[in-house]
Parts: sequence; C-alpha cells; structure tokens
Amino acid sequence: MLKVIHVTKKFKNTTAVDDISFTLDPGTIVGLLGPNGAGKSTTLKTIAGLLRKDSGEITIAGHINTSTEAKKRFSYVPETPELYEMLTVREHLQFIAYAYNVPDWAEKVTKLFARYDLLDKQDKLAKELSKGMKQKVSLCAGLLPEPDLYLFDEPMIGLDPKAIRETKLLFRELSGQGKTVFVSTHLLDSIENLCHRVLVMKSGKIIADGDIDTLRSQLGDGVNYSLEELFLGVTGDE
Ligand SMILES: Nc1ncnc2c1ncn2[C@@H]1O[C@H](COP(=O)(O)OP(=O)(O)OP(=O)(O)O)[C@@H](O)[C@H]1O
Ligand SMILES: [Mg+2]
Repeated sequence: MLKVIHVTKKFKNTTAVDDISFTLDPGTIVGLLGPNGAGKSTTLKTIAGLLRKDSGEITIAGHINTSTEAKKRFSYVPETPELYEMLTVREHLQFIAYAYNVPDWAEKVTKLFARYDLLDKQDKLAKELSKGMKQKVSLCAGLLPEPDLYLFDEPMIGLDPKAIRETKLLFRELSGQGKTVFVSTHLLDSIENLCHRVLVMKSGKIIADGDIDTLRSQLGDGVNYSLEELFLGVTGDE
C-alpha cells in the first residue's frame, strides 16, 4: 500500500528524516513511535506530499505520492487541527465531501458525528470549538473520504476516553476492511493491543521495526518487559 524507499528530508542543518525505508501492507495498523523530534511528523508530512523530500521515492498503491492518483488513496490528519475559523463543523465535512466527491456524504457525516458526539455541535463555528472538539472534526474529515491509507499524526491527543475508544474501534474496522492505518503516537498503552507492527524512530532513523511480541523477544532477552520499558530501552532513554 505504501512504499518508502531511502527517503531523506533535511531542514537546513537538521536531517529530520535520514534515509528511511519501509513498506506497509494492506489491512495493517502500524504505529510510529519515537521521542520528541525523532522525525515522525516530518515522515508523515513527507509521505502526504506536504514537504518536499531531498531524496528517495514514495509510492502509494504504486503511484508516486504527489500524483493525483495517489492523493485519492490517502488522507492525512495533522498533529494540530487545521480548521477554517468561519466554517461550521458540518460545513467542514461538506467541503471535504465535495473535494473528494464522496457519495452519500450526508449520512456518512451523521454516522461519524454520532460516534464522536458531535451531532449537537454541527452548527458551531470552528473558532467556537474546544481543543478536543477540533481534533474530532479533524479526524472526521480524515475518515469521511474512506481512502485506502490513513496517515494520523497523534490522533488521540486531546480526545476524551470515549473518543479514544471509538478511534481505536474505527482503526480496527478500517484494518478489517483491508485499509492501512499509519499512526504516530506517544500513548504506548493505546497501541499495545492495537498495532500489528511498530516502527520506532530516533534522530531521523528507524531503529526498530516489528510486531510487539517480536520486539519484545528481540530486545527483552526473554524478560516480559512492558512496552514503555522496551521503548525507553530501544531509544536509549532509559
Ligand atoms: N519546519 C521546520 N523547520 C526546521 N526544522 C524542523 C521543521 N519541522 C521539524 N523540524 C526539525 O525536524 C526534526 C524532526 O521533527 P518532527 O516534528 O518530525 O519530530 P516528531 O517526531 O514529530 O516530534 P514530536 O514527538 O515532538 O511531535 C526536529 O529536529 C525538528 O526540530
Ligand atoms: Mg510530531
């Protein structure tokens, strides 16, 4: 579904993403972990075509990531919601529906709003929303077009427990439909029983890649470490 081949992204003197390569299969939920500044957001933005890479190749369902064909296949939810202050909650989704030509969008939006407790917020302007509500709108906007690949940058931040549960359920549903979910997060507990595979980044490089049990057996020396202990061990922050 997604191929990232020898991709490097530099900002002046900083190599934010340093020659990374990986492939994501359809139907998988893949966690992207790493300490602050590791390069997670830069990786996701570069895949989404929002940042220009310095070298390497990225394809989505076989199409170069910046092509129109590729853009129809993924959605990207940024770490900070980017909403239009003067549009209402429902108008945001209507805008996405028109941009992506989403069939039956009105019913789909109502279902999403029901899941995220936004039904009574539909007519509020974005500028009137709380932080968590903005995050929910941003997530709904990413979910509405029903693409094959989802790039989520810390989607659980600011969400209440019910919305976190709904989001995890949604990820599982998407995976069951053969979709690919690539999600950066610091919430280790939330991925333990969710992600089929985790990539751990540090200083722009991928320093671990595998399913949690494999990482545990590779790094844990037979000890049943918690995900937090494994993470701190592998990133050298223990
Ligand atoms: N627009 C920018 N201009 C210059 N440097 C940047 C820019 N964006 C990110 N960086 C640098 O690139 C590196 C990777 O940043 P990135 O935002 O990808 O990290 P992250 O893993 O998402 O961190 P966090 O967990 O804090 O969200 C950092 O050193 C950061 O300072
Ligand atoms: Mg980030």
